[in-house]
Amino acid sequence: MVERATDLPDDKPGRYAALRAEIAAVIAGEPDRIARCATAVALLAHAFPDRFLWTGFYLVDPQKPEELVVGPYQGRLGCLRIPFGKGVCGAAAAARRTQLVPDVHVFPGHIACDSRSNSEIVVPLFDGNGALAGVLDIDSASFAAFDATDQAGLEAICADLLTLP
Ligand code: SME
Repeated sequence: MVERATDLPDDKPGRYAALRAEIAAVIAGEPDRIARCATAVALLAHAFPDRFLWTGFYLVDPQKPEELVVGPYQGRLGCLRIPFGKGVCGAAAAARRTQLVPDVHVFPGHIACDSRSNSEIVVPLFDGNGALAGVLDIDSASFAAFDATDQAGLEAICADLLTLP
C-alpha cells in the first residue's frame, strides 16, 4: 500500500514540477539506467496513489530491438514482454509518441495485465542519443484519468531521465 506524499503541491502541474525536480536531484550523477527508472517509478507511484494503479517502464531489449521487456514497476504482476506494435505500450514504441487512452477497452490490441485498468498513458523514453530506450506505462482504474497536464508532466520527466548528467 502506497501512502500519499504530503509534501508535494496539491495542484497537478505544481506536483509534476516538484516531482521533476525531486527525480533530477535523486538521480544526479547516477549512471545506471535501471536505478534512474526505479527512482522515477517510486516517486511517481507515491505522488499519485489514487490515480496510478500500475506505474512502470518497459525497456527495449538490446537483444531484440523490436521487443520491450518489463523494467522497474510498482503494481500487480505485469506481462514480461511486449512486441513493438502490440497494445498501448507497443504502439507508443512503434510510433515513438505518447499514447493517451481514455478507455482501454476500445483500444485495438490492448493488453490487459490488470483487469481493473480502465485508462492508460504511455510515454516514450529516449536516451541521450535520441534512440528509443523504452516506454513509461501508467494505468488507472478510472476512465479518462489522464489529460494534457499528465502528458506534459510525464514527457518532461522522461526527457530528463536518461539525459541529465
Ligand atoms: N496495458 C498495456 C500492457 C502493460 S500492463 O498494463 C502493465 C498495453 O496494452 O500495452
